Parts: sequence; structure tokens; C-alpha cells
Amino acid sequence: MNSPLIPDPATITPAPDPGPPRDMGSDATPLLHMERLEKDYFHEGKEINVLRGIDRTLWQGEMVSLIGSSGAGKSTLLHVVGTLDRPTGGSVSYMGEDVFRFNEKSLAAFRNRTIGFVFQFHHLLPDFNALENVMMPALMAGMGRPEAAAAAKNILDSVSLTHRLDHRPGELSGGEQQRVAIARALVMRPRIMLADEPTGNLDEETSEEIHRLLFDLNSEYNMTLLLVTHHHVLARRMKRQWEIQGGRIVKDQREA
Ligand SMILES: Nc1ncnc2c1ncn2[C@@H]1O[C@H](COP(=O)(O)OP(=O)(O)O)[C@@H](O)[C@H]1O
Ligand SMILES: [Mg+2]
Repeated sequence: MNSPLIPDPATITPAPDPGPPRDMGSDATPLLHMERLEKDYFHEGKEINVLRGIDRTLWQGEMVSLIGSSGAGKSTLLHVVGTLDRPTGGSVSYMGEDVFRFNEKSLAAFRNRTIGFVFQFHHLLPDFNALENVMMPALMAGMGRPEAAAAAKNILDSVSLTHRLDHRPGELSGGEQQRVAIARALVMRPRIMLADEPTGNLDEETSEEIHRLLFDLNSEYNMTLLLVTHHHVLARRMKRQWEIQGGRIVKDQREA
């Protein structure tokens, strides 16, 4: 079963974690810490070890790309780090707090406040317009309608969609839909955005527009970004680059 071209996962050694970015100095505090993170699935009676012990630390304001072949566990890692899915082993801590110790209600509130998700498909609600879609996380967090509308307008303005507030997803282009999805992910001003191939479904020009937006949001809000992509050129534009293979992070590289 083991081909010489596909290394046995048990023999793959993880890349060392490079530690805090140099410009952060010695008082840097980690934003997100994954420790011995494991995720197994059971499929037709067989155990699949997708994540085999991931140890990584992410720092506020970092932009990290994650590449790896299809089925390598990129989406699984994002789901677990984003607390949408529980790990089989190990822990995820944000600002020193082990989040899987929270009860479901606290975990949902934490997730809504701290993490923004963007997926390949926008998952916008088709019967609501752009403004209402972006207001949704704020309303769910208990914010009043006028406040939520103001926050949503503000963030829609940063993604250059002020002129499309009352358009429903079906009345927007693919790029505009994805910008609404990004605005929705950002309306609570999360510390971290997790993006799973956010431009996998868009043409090259529109993709580039979205990528530039992500870089701008990073410099404007010091927003931390962990981005899954199969685009090697895009991956290399991030200051920190990860590659996952055999359930482990086999590359973790910071640009000087
Ligand atoms: N809910 C699930 N049940 C069983 N197997 C799963 C489930 N989700 C993902 N997998 C398997 O886990 C592996 C990693 O999947 P995924 O994280 O989606 O990979 P990637 O995003 O890198 O393409 C794949 O082999 C996939 O088939
Ligand atoms: Mg995936």
C-alpha cells in the first residue's frame, strides 16, 4: 500500500515553529496556540487520522497561508481552530484560554466575537440584502438594530460596497458576494479571520481584488489571517507560510 512516492505519515517530521515575529519584541503575547492537535474521523469502520499532532502559535497581526494537497486536512484544521469542530486530542487556546473547555453557549459567543470565517462559497442568506446579511452576526450577539446597521454600513464601506447595500446576493456579482461575506465575517471586528479558499470560485481579476482587500484589512485593523489556498503565488505573498502534509505542518516559514 505504501508507495515510495508517498511518505509514510508516521515518519514525517514537523517543521519547527519560528516563534514570534522579530518586530514584536520580547513582550509578544500569542493570539492563538494549538497544542498536540489531533483530529480523527471514522469512515466505514476505519479510522482516518487527519491531524496528527499540530503544535503552532499565531501572533496578533500575522498573515499566514496554508497550502497542502487536496484531502491533506486544511479545511479540517480551519474548522477545529475556528471551534466549529472539536479536536479528537490536544487543545486550542486564544489569549491563553483553552476554548474547548467552554460550554457550548460560551463557545458560540466566543466564536461570534473573536473569529471571522470566509469560505469558498459565500453562504449568504438569499432572501436578505447585503446590509442585512452583514448585520446578522451583530444582531446575534445582541446588538440593537441601529447599532448593528451602523457597524455593517461601516464595514461594507471598507469593502467598497456602499452602493450595493440593498442588493440581495442574487443581484450581486461573484466578487461582490464574496466581499459581502468578508464584511459579514468582519462586522464583529474579530481578532482573527479564517479563510478557506475564499477566491477558489472567482476569476483571476476578481480574486486579486479580494486578495488586495485582505492585505488592506490586515494593515488597517492589524487583523490576523489564516488563509487556505492552492495558489502558490498568493501563498508566497503572506509573511508566514505553512504547508500541511501527512497530518502535520511540514513547512513553517517567515519572510524576512
Ligand atoms: N466528516 C468527515 N467524515 C469522514 N472523513 C472526513 C470528514 N471530513 C473530512 N474527512 C476526510 O478528512 C480528510 C481531510 O479533509 P479536508 O480537511 O477537507 O481536506 P482539504 O481541505 O485539505 O482538502 C479527507 O480525506 C476527507 O475525506
Ligand atoms: Mg478543503
